[in-house]
Amino acid sequence: MSDPIVQLKAVSKWYPSDPGRRVLDGIDLSIAPGERFAIVGPSGCGKSTLLNILGTLDRPSEGSVIVAGQSMDACDEPTTAALRGREIGFIFQLHHLLPQCTALENVLVPTLAITPRPDPAEAAGRARELLGRVGLANKLDSRPSQLSGGERQRVAVVRALINRPRLLLADEPTGALDEDNAARLIDLLIELNESDQGHLALVMVTHDLALANRLGSVRPLREGRFVTESL
Ligand SMILES: Nc1ncnc2c1ncn2[C@@H]1O[C@H](COP(=O)(O)OP(=O)(O)OP(=O)(O)O)[C@@H](O)[C@H]1O
Ligand SMILES: [Mg+2]
Repeated sequence: MSDPIVQLKAVSKWYPSDPGRRVLDGIDLSIAPGERFAIVGPSGCGKSTLLNILGTLDRPSEGSVIVAGQSMDACDEPTTAALRGREIGFIFQLHHLLPQCTALENVLVPTLAITPRPDPAEAAGRARELLGRVGLANKLDSRPSQLSGGERQRVAVVRALINRPRLLLADEPTGALDEDNAARLIDLLIELNESDQGHLALVMVTHDLALANRLGSVRPLREGRFVTESL
């Protein structure tokens, strides 16, 4: 079996404001290439904290995070950011698109942040192709204010994928969408996960069990620990 993309070993997290409470409590987790699963649990159980640690946006209080075989424990922020930019894409509940930029320009933003810098013409070609694939070929020059909520979130998906990450992390990606658009977005994420010959792993956080079940594998989180019983 190939090496995991991200591995957590005995990861715990607590905050200085409440050091007695473990928001995450001894989490072991391994994400294999091409794998997909959902993390579900009630508000405050630690889902976003866990996803941010998986994505190296936050660090654990205790335990180890290993990305692409490399321990992040003693890794400085520029090195961590470089690895993150290459290996991991993020989608959040709110799209966080730049309002003054077009859909195409928004998608290209992450290509400016990695080294070696991709060839601009090639990156623009890939951005156009991906935007076409999610049904936005005729919206390349639209600004976020000219797009629907579902369209904006699809631009955010393409932006997350532009650097060909091996892991896509999604935190309540459908939280701001109506039911139809939510279902469509989940279908798109599943299709992207399945179509890339096992290149892209997908981890989605949600409190919506029905949406989580569509991914086919669900891991319930309660008070900072994975539990086996269903919610
Ligand atoms: N910076 C912080 N300082 C102190 N406590 C925090 C901080 N960030 C998060 N927490 C606490 O950690 C717990 C877990 O938060 P987290 O955001 O991971 O929950 P969640 O499962 O994503 O919830 P939701 O479904 O509402 O998004 C919460 O009780 C929260 O108040
Ligand atoms: Mg959250």
